[in-house]
Amino acid sequence: MDMSDERDDVAFLTGSNSSESRLYSKRDLYERGHVAVCSHRQALCITVFVFSSILATAISIAFIRPWNTCDAVVEPHEEEPEYLTPIATNGEEFPWDDVRLPIFIRPISYDLELTPNLTTLEVRGIIKLIFQVTEETDYIVFHSKNISITSKTINEKLKVVKILEYPARDQLYLETDQPMRPGRTYSIRLKFEYILTQSLEGFYLSTYKDNEGNERRLATTHFEPTSARRAFPCFDEPQLKAKFLVTITHDRSLKSFFNMPIKEVSDVRGKKDQIRNEFYESAPMSSYLVAFVVCDFKLIKKRTKSNVTIRVIAPENKISQADFALDQAIKITENYERFFGIDYPLPKQDLIAIPDFAAGAMENWGLITYRETSLLFTPGVSSTKSKQWVATVIAHELAHQWFGNLVTMRWWNDLWLNEGFASWMEYQGVDEVQPDWNMKGQFWSTVVQPALEEDALQSSHPISVPVKDPRDIEGIFDIISYNKGSAIIRMLENFLGEHVLRFGLRLYLEKHKYGNAVTKDLWLALAQATNYTHDVEGMMNTWTLQMGYPLITFTKVANSTSWNISQSRFLYTGKIEGVNTSMPATRFNYTWIVPVKFYTDSGKQYQHLITPKDSNGYSVDLGEDVKWIKGNSDGYGYYRVQYPEQTWNSLIQEFITNHTKFSPSDRAQIIDDAFALSKAGELDYKIPLELSKYLKSERDLVPWTVALRHLADLKDLFGEGSQRSLILQYARKLLEDVYTSLGWEDKGSHNERLLRFLILRSAVDAKLEDATKTAANLYQQIKDGKNISSELQELVYCAGIENGTLQDWESTLAKYHTTQIPSERALLMKALTCTRDTLILQQYLHFTLDKSKVRSQDVRTVLINISSNPSGTALAWRHVRRYWERYYTSFGEGSFTIGLIIKGLTTSFSTQFDLEQVESFFKEKEVGAGKQALTQAVEMIKVNINFRDNYEEKIITWIQEFLL
Ligand code: BES
Ligand code: ZN
Repeated sequence: MDMSDERDDVAFLTGSNSSESRLYSKRDLYERGHVAVCSHRQALCITVFVFSSILATAISIAFIRPWNTCDAVVEPHEEEPEYLTPIATNGEEFPWDDVRLPIFIRPISYDLELTPNLTTLEVRGIIKLIFQVTEETDYIVFHSKNISITSKTINEKLKVVKILEYPARDQLYLETDQPMRPGRTYSIRLKFEYILTQSLEGFYLSTYKDNEGNERRLATTHFEPTSARRAFPCFDEPQLKAKFLVTITHDRSLKSFFNMPIKEVSDVRGKKDQIRNEFYESAPMSSYLVAFVVCDFKLIKKRTKSNVTIRVIAPENKISQADFALDQAIKITENYERFFGIDYPLPKQDLIAIPDFAAGAMENWGLITYRETSLLFTPGVSSTKSKQWVATVIAHELAHQWFGNLVTMRWWNDLWLNEGFASWMEYQGVDEVQPDWNMKGQFWSTVVQPALEEDALQSSHPISVPVKDPRDIEGIFDIISYNKGSAIIRMLENFLGEHVLRFGLRLYLEKHKYGNAVTKDLWLALAQATNYTHDVEGMMNTWTLQMGYPLITFTKVANSTSWNISQSRFLYTGKIEGVNTSMPATRFNYTWIVPVKFYTDSGKQYQHLITPKDSNGYSVDLGEDVKWIKGNSDGYGYYRVQYPEQTWNSLIQEFITNHTKFSPSDRAQIIDDAFALSKAGELDYKIPLELSKYLKSERDLVPWTVALRHLADLKDLFGEGSQRSLILQYARKLLEDVYTSLGWEDKGSHNERLLRFLILRSAVDAKLEDATKTAANLYQQIKDGKNISSELQELVYCAGIENGTLQDWESTLAKYHTTQIPSERALLMKALTCTRDTLILQQYLHFTLDKSKVRSQDVRTVLINISSNPSGTALAWRHVRRYWERYYTSFGEGSFTIGLIIKGLTTSFSTQFDLEQVESFFKEKEVGAGKQALTQAVEMIKVNINFRDNYEEKIITWIQEFLL
């Protein structure tokens, strides 16, 4: 996913586009691999043998129920016309007709030997799949993709009479002459080979340059969700856990790593330059969590109190940047052992920096792979933002070691269990080791707000979503699974209490460890933790099984001290004529069970559970003289709040006189609700604008982050010509005071540093005179070879490039190509998109078509950042259309990147003309996994057009008056 190298705050100028969410699919940066495809003939003529095992143990494994029935979601019958009669590669009918594997085969363990050659790029392997069947059968089906199976082994008892291949579903079908019986153990031994490519998935090739500028190679893996099958034949579904016994043979000059430590190193007969590493057998685990790396890296290590060896592994010239990660990983692991009440079960944990990596990081059990910018940190060079990002990613992936690896979702429709949970745990994990970073306070702006924004579209989707096809699976690594998933866990935590939640999590982990679970299992464990006083499942189903969220409306009951609280679905398009508002029906009819917390000016806190039964609203007596109500206390709830206009006005008054009466999260959330409600046509546009006046005295990171996103939105939407300068002027006025009070000196707390970065960057973008001048001076200092504070580099480079010459751009480009500091490289890459020179931007756009200029992992970032530069918007849109086929084929039809590119380039469009262009261009185009993103983008453009039609003039007039 981005994967944003850092969770990026939005600067004013760069706008909402550049907020690279961390939500992307790993595939977004993939290129199609050119792996040697198994020759059909070859595959057919192989004889594979199956021998019955000595182990006729009748271990009755508790898989009585088929795991692919899904409790929570009723899977609609999906029509797959092209699959109606699957035809194998030899023209015969392929007898197994389901993307899912048969439920009667249980892998027990794999015995895998691999010999990757980093010079010829050939990989040879031998695998023994050891399995049982739970029903008598004379065939099995397993996965294999782009692997050529080359040879056979001895047949003991059974003979393979047929082997068929069905590449559309990555399946191999193997039929035996006699039936296999339940209770016995069988195995198949296959020899196979393929070529390493730079595809960023499966077992792939990555390269980097050493200090002498020589290219070095490594081979590494990324399997989630469905790429283990590209590295070795296997049963590639998460509920099919098995133990892995792995041996890797490679050049003596290299090292190899696997999920487990090395058990034995041996020589290879007749090959002096080779070495053979045999690893300890793994715990039972899902195939997507397997990982191995062959490389020449160096490592640093340390032991936790509970005796787990933690190692950080990186190229030699970068290992000095690994100390921070090691320290965080040790502390977070120790804390998690306490938090979950279960020790980390493996003897070691490796964190390895991979130079080409599509996602931000991947939680492989005991061998976590990271994009370099997610692991390496250089004090004095990397910024506070990148430090927080590194700590966050480490906390996220370590949380998966329990939630995801020890207990795994049964099927991908429950992906949110993994990702939502880890995204929530990040805040817990980092907060414990960095208590002064105010991580929990940042949750609202980094997690909740982006989810509320996206989930207000009719084209959103439920958290629990039926998926089958690998391409759909990739698509749900998105804001809904991550952000909404973690937001509803946080809401539940606040409702049940921290201790109940933690206790329930322990029950859940304890009960399902080394196994799989579904969403319902989590709710049951949490209900148990409440002593069954709460129907957790009943409540949470309303949040996971339907998309969207409620708008909670407070209305005063006439002639009474009572207030009515009611709910309705919040939609951006609710009031737009001509936008289809017919929504897929849900069991809950878009009503929710909502824990509503609020307080009033009297200081009294209230908590009520609003349920669908309260169809006429829920009535509470608030006593006399309520001046204002602040709904959704501290923003724990996943909903928006609406008040009568008079209450809004009193809130504004209170904000202007004493905003610190409200917590920063409350402030952020009121700002966000006001802007979002007005965008949806539910609230007079004057309310958010009047409210924004208080920002002059705002000094906190979270409300500023949210407010600047909305200002950027206004600028993006009406930012053509003279209106742009008006909006900038308005922004300057709001920013002035906080700008002056923060200054340019790098000092203060973690949050103050983050705020300074945000404010200075926004001030420069808004052309605040002093800010522009200071940035220019600092850029001159860089050119004179002086060092400037690490916090300032990103914005100073961007400002310098924006106003600089071709020479400035070229020297920055040279630095981008040579720096060995990943965080610096990332910031230079972004700074290069800041130029106003369209010829240069055009050239940079072209670089994204050439891997040697922009790594495939970074293509998306460059395209989207150029597009959010006003000088580049039209260019980027034209360029992407012109080379659409190239991007599409290079990222692949299953790639979520395509969706991200579509969204990143078009969601700020706001005219009928733009809309027609987008619609007509994509009408003829294949978008693959980007389908939903395209629907969302089109819906967003319609929202924007409507907003402009109704409010643009009024808002501009308001700003003009404000500026008088
Ligand atoms: N399991 C994911 C990695 C992943 C992402 C696999 C997409 C397949 C598709 C991992 O745990 C993850 O979520 N990584 C995040 C970092 C995190 C801090 C949000 C990422 O890669 O951005
Ligand atoms: Zn994750």
